[in-house]
Amino acid sequence: ARRKAVSAAPIQINLALCSELSLNLTDEDKVKLKSLLKKIILFSHLTDSELDSMVSAFFEVEKKAGDVIISQEEEGDNFYIVDSGECDIYVTKKSETRLVECARAGDYFGELALMYNCPRLATVRARTNVKLFALGQEIFKHLLCSAAQDRRKQYESFLQNVPILKSLTAEERGKIADVLVQTTYADGEYIIKEFDSCADTFFIVYEGEAIATKSAEGAVKEVMKYMKGDYFGELALLKHAPRAANVVAKGRCTVVSIDRASFNRLLGSCDEILRRHWRTY
Ligand code: CMP
Repeated sequence: ARRKAVSAAPIQINLALCSELSLNLTDEDKVKLKSLLKKIILFSHLTDSELDSMVSAFFEVEKKAGDVIISQEEEGDNFYIVDSGECDIYVTKKSETRLVECARAGDYFGELALMYNCPRLATVRARTNVKLFALGQEIFKHLLCSAAQDRRKQYESFLQNVPILKSLTAEERGKIADVLVQTTYADGEYIIKEFDSCADTFFIVYEGEAIATKSAEGAVKEVMKYMKGDYFGELALLKHAPRAANVVAKGRCTVVSIDRASFNRLLGSCDEILRRHWRTY
């Protein structure tokens, strides 16, 4: 059966610190927030009670349409999750400003400056009136830093030996480690299904093997074999097209995956990095 890996050591949360900041969330808000937190990869290592402590440290922020919530280049303060409404995210590079994302209910932003101790990398402006769940940087860092270090250590040597990531710096590979999702598949289980049109993830084999198959004239043909460090799933990402083949676990196979949005946020254009390693099929 498919199993999501649980990462490293549990986090010790300083409850005193959390309760100090416990502000105006209703019980209903707290239930909603907890279910949102469970879906965020960054927090996937937290136990249920750690999540409860974290929830109690969030507070609510309301902004009007047009308000700037985060300004690029400024120092980071809070991490935000959108409760309701929409926010536009703009990145300015070489005096050109681009709208890169629209954050809607359940989406989050403001993590990068806090995680990497750098100035804000984008400007976030409320597109509509918005309600946000906010978490102060002290607690955010406290919850994430030791887990991030564990993950980086766990993946360091593996990522160093993945050919597609060779052109990245150690720091960039560390950022990838922060958002990798590890999943184990049983023999014969589909990791990717041919023609699937909702493709936004690419995969690297962490342990075991997988094969790519294609259906043609009523038969299924093996077209590729993947071993540790090999990657797949990049074609659909590059071409914005449906998956071009099935990928099936051969024996027990563990893969790590990263989605397009995380990749773009962390490293700039995922397309550009993948294109440097374009393979012909
Ligand atoms: P931070 O730099 O702390 O504040 C701005 C936030 O915008 C950033 O964290 C991310 O959460 C978010 N964001 C979304 N897309 C991008 C992007 N392409 N580049 C940088 N930040 C982004």
